[in-house]
Amino acid sequence: MDLRCLYARGLELPNPLIAASAGTTEIVDKMRRCEDAGMSAVVMKTLFEDPVARRDPAPMFRVLQRRIGAARSTTFYTYEQAAHLDPQQFCEEIRKAKEALGIKVIGSCACVSDEAWSEYPRLMEQAGADAVELNLSCPYSAHLTDNLAALPEFIESATRIAREAVSIPLTTKLTPQMSSPSQIARLMERAGSDGVVPFSRFAGLDIDIETEAPIMHGGMAGHGGPWSLYYVLGWLWQIDKATELPISSSGGVWNAEDVVKHILVGADTVQLCTVLYLQGYGVAAAMLQGLRDWMETKGYTSLADFRGKAVSRVKGQTQVERRQTVVAAIDPERCTSCGTCVRVCPHGATKDDREGPIRLIAEECSGCGLCGELCPVGAISLRSLPEGYRPRHRIAGYYDVLTG
Ligand SMILES: Cc1cc2nc3c(=O)[nH]c(=O)nc-3n(C[C@H](O)[C@H](O)[C@H](O)COP(=O)(O)O)c2cc1C
Repeated sequence: MDLRCLYARGLELPNPLIAASAGTTEIVDKMRRCEDAGMSAVVMKTLFEDPVARRDPAPMFRVLQRRIGAARSTTFYTYEQAAHLDPQQFCEEIRKAKEALGIKVIGSCACVSDEAWSEYPRLMEQAGADAVELNLSCPYSAHLTDNLAALPEFIESATRIAREAVSIPLTTKLTPQMSSPSQIARLMERAGSDGVVPFSRFAGLDIDIETEAPIMHGGMAGHGGPWSLYYVLGWLWQIDKATELPISSSGGVWNAEDVVKHILVGADTVQLCTVLYLQGYGVAAAMLQGLRDWMETKGYTSLADFRGKAVSRVKGQTQVERRQTVVAAIDPERCTSCGTCVRVCPHGATKDDREGPIRLIAEECSGCGLCGELCPVGAISLRSLPEGYRPRHRIAGYYDVLTG
């Protein structure tokens, strides 16, 4: 099975799994663990120009769980500053990694001054880095987050400066805290980037209601988790349509299915971070096996067989079928009359007569599917509406307007 792919123009990898820039890739010993788990490359923990970010960089982590009914959402809430290394130490780590390991080593830098955007990538190239990722994504870099309106300009100038300084492949990593990913991707291509990396994490805040103060270190933190998958898939779709550049996507990857989804929406490679922290490096081996198994089931022999396949299937707003085509049906044998569907139905189409199962008033049902999603015993399904059936929708005239 051929898993070859491009991290960036000019840098081919044997498989699409890359360890994303974070404390998990800071030094050679950690990079070796990435290699042992089967990943094809590491992006090193970012070298920051701002010395404040490098000072006492003890990371702080919380795993926040929100429970909403039976559902649970996991958020990795962290404050981890720059690599503790200075530029010379960072480059020494690159040299050691290139000597000791077979995987590709990608440097990463986040700078403030024009001089450093030129100097840091050049030092990394001299040390033997296979590529450099320009980190324009840090959730708590004040020079980025305090001035998001100027970010496109900053991205363009940083990319141009670094492009002039090095000849190894260069990519630009984006923050999700901005709009127009397709425009930004085009701009990066014009500025000389060899690849796009969407994206890092959101900056956020949590408050302890006992102390009435921010948790952990008392400030804004980066946060992400499996839930962020949907943001990055949406971005990938927009970026893939806008540029020919290889895309190395990052965000919300938890298992092999998520890797497949990223690739279907246009990713060339997929970066892992939170999952490595929360489940250990070894999870990458299981993901690779899962990817191979899925490809085998589908009869694919290379990533090119399905990369971007879903992109043209994503409908625009005017192409979506909005007419009601289904209606809920309650299985009286399964219904326990718990009342969940009565509480949640936005149209009041489910009635509790207090005798026997819940009753559905089919003419009031819009077929949205919420009751079925939340029914704890799976008693509600959606059935196709018979041809010519005209439900009495609660918004007067709505159905008639749509059907003409
Ligand atoms: C603790 C932590 C530290 C990180 N440090 C960096 C960093 O130094 N440079 C960078 O570009 N991204 C950094 N990231 C962002 C990750 O590389 C990745 O883009 C992001 O977490 C989204 O992927 P995920 O959902 O798999 O975590 C960090 C993420 C975490 C959780």
